Amino acid sequence: MSAPTPSMDVLVSLCKRRGFVFQSSEIYGGTGSCWDFGPLGIELKNNIKRVWWRDFVQQRMDMVGLDASILMHPAVWKASGHVDQFTDPMVDCRECKLRFRADQVDEIPWLHFCPATKGNKFTIPAGEACTHCGATRTLCPDCGKGELTAPRQFNLMFKTFMGPVEEDASLTYLRPETAQGIFVNFDNVLQSMRPKLPFGIAQIGKAFRNEITPGNFIFRVRELEQMEIEFFVNPHEQLDGRPADEAWHDRWIADAQAWYVRYGVDPAKLKLKEHGKDELSHYSKRTVDVMYHFPIGWSELMGIANRTDYDLKQHSKASGKSLTYFDEERKEHITPFVIEPSFGVDRAFLAFMLDAYREEEVRGDKRVVLRFHRELAPIKIAVLPLLKKRPEIVATAHALRGRLARQWRSVYDDTAAIGRLYRRQDEVGTPYCVTVDVKTVGDHDKGEAGDGKVTIRERDSMEQIRVPVADLDAVFGRLMGETAWSEVAVAYPRAEG
Ligand code: GAP
Repeated sequence: MSAPTPSMDVLVSLCKRRGFVFQSSEIYGGTGSCWDFGPLGIELKNNIKRVWWRDFVQQRMDMVGLDASILMHPAVWKASGHVDQFTDPMVDCRECKLRFRADQVDEIPWLHFCPATKGNKFTIPAGEACTHCGATRTLCPDCGKGELTAPRQFNLMFKTFMGPVEEDASLTYLRPETAQGIFVNFDNVLQSMRPKLPFGIAQIGKAFRNEITPGNFIFRVRELEQMEIEFFVNPHEQLDGRPADEAWHDRWIADAQAWYVRYGVDPAKLKLKEHGKDELSHYSKRTVDVMYHFPIGWSELMGIANRTDYDLKQHSKASGKSLTYFDEERKEHITPFVIEPSFGVDRAFLAFMLDAYREEEVRGDKRVVLRFHRELAPIKIAVLPLLKKRPEIVATAHALRGRLARQWRSVYDDTAAIGRLYRRQDEVGTPYCVTVDVKTVGDHDKGEAGDGKVTIRERDSMEQIRVPVADLDAVFGRLMGETAWSEVAVAYPRAEG
């Protein structure tokens, strides 16, 4: 059975309290829809990007990487269609001046002054009618008084000026997707790396969208990060008895979902959504979204589009440069089709956190634990002294942390009693704690020698084993790899909790 999803409020509070995510510029009252990743948040985010890059670029023969600049020639955005078509319909309240996306205004609860109850104020659930007077929403959902303007198209790209003069000639945009940096470098990659179709180019980087209604924590932000792949295929070839672009599209849909599951997302919380003809972007032949069961309901986690040859042809036409591939078999120049798995880093971060979150009862106490996959966990090992008043224990713990930190992110903490230290590490998802105690170092005064062993505690089972210090690198080498805790633990005596 799936674990219950925590509410967004619970997660936001944990993120702030434990250093994952802070509101941007909080001391000045915050910046709408911008968030800062704190000391543990940046570790988690880096881990997500690192495993993505390793799995989809470094381990594959048919992929290469790229890091294009955020500021590009403004002609890129004209050719790509973003200047004319990267818009959302927007409506404004004539009273309170709030702005809404016209296509989402019925998806929010609305304020109503009901004439059937002498103008009493009610908040009515999204899309429902007033139970007293039967009215449906026509006015502003926020103030309940103002009329809404007719929808107008609003371009989501942030404008900026390149160089010292603010004039139209120096106008450019912050990129709203990383994809275009890949398309404009298609020929550079082709000439320098000589890849054969099918092959992909991957990129991780920031993108910016002036969203009309950002919100739901880091779900919809104005400064986001994407991990995108443009996978080029020969549309004249057949694969699995179908045109190659269609077959590769389905392969990428399966691979993308499997990636989330591999790093801990419950498959029951994922589903696919096929875009209807009216929802397709201007460049797409078919788009499928991977949806995740967020606390706000089923919502887009990522998208996988078949962009056809639209972008390469548009850039070729606008720049006058050939962006084709020579098909040796048919002895002809072709424009490849492109399949685009587009992962959002912020939404992946949110999904991995939500899925890891558990509230459990342990001996009558509540424990909050983030059951992160070990590769995603911000801290891998916490080294804890059982008694901080014993200098030998503290020195041994510090030395061990330094040794383990050469390979794995490790921390030292002595600011509370051991039970509390374990709970703190559970709450940030640290998979292993190492405890140094009196038995480890011995007791000089009593003439007792130490046994040179420490206790390793595993986060999910809370089992503890007693391991010689000399074995630690080998033991953690196995635990951080593919070996299960139970397989490693069986070789060592259990320690009492
Ligand atoms: N290159 C294709 C593209 O950008 P998209 O569906 O607009 O397609 C891809 O965006 C992914 O980027 C989304 O599925 C989501 O994960 C992430 N994303 C897009 N806009 C976002 C926003 N405002 N805040 C957070 N993530 C966003």
